[in-house]
Amino acid sequence: MATALNKYGILYLHMVEPKWKNDKEKAEGPDIDSLVPIRKAFNGTFITAGGYNHEDGNKAISENKADLVAYGRWFLSNPDLPKRFEIDAPLNKYHIETYYTPDPVIGYIDYPFLEDNS
Ligand SMILES: Cc1cc2nc3c(=O)[nH]c(=O)nc-3n(C[C@H](O)[C@H](O)[C@H](O)COP(=O)(O)O)c2cc1C
Repeated sequence: MATALNKYGILYLHMVEPKWKNDKEKAEGPDIDSLVPIRKAFNGTFITAGGYNHEDGNKAISENKADLVAYGRWFLSNPDLPKRFEIDAPLNKYHIETYYTPDPVIGYIDYPFLEDNS
């Protein structure tokens, strides 16, 4: 499919590794870079996501496994995630209990910024 997309000149392809189901806080799962063949097949910008932290996101880029790495859960719990990565600050833990709940605030926009902790 990624090869077929090339003929349409699509700017980017963004995919999620199935390994994101493995919560790094709780369990170690298989660490397979299953998207690499798709990355190689697609000519445009390739964005990966799924189970990455700061360190292995950088590693994926340096090993040319993607052009960009997207973050889901870490971004949800850290509204200033780029800043935290930049200065190597500790991260707020994400709370699985508040995923997919109807409250528009709790678990979505109530995680503290770095300056809120000081
Ligand atoms: C609370 C929550 C809601 C999500 N909602 C969606 C969604 O609506 N559509 C979607 O494609 N992915 C959704 N995702 C998946 C994320 O976009 C992302 O692919 C996934 O969290 C893997 O990245 P991560 O390991 O950095 O968290 C959601 C993830 C979480 C935790």
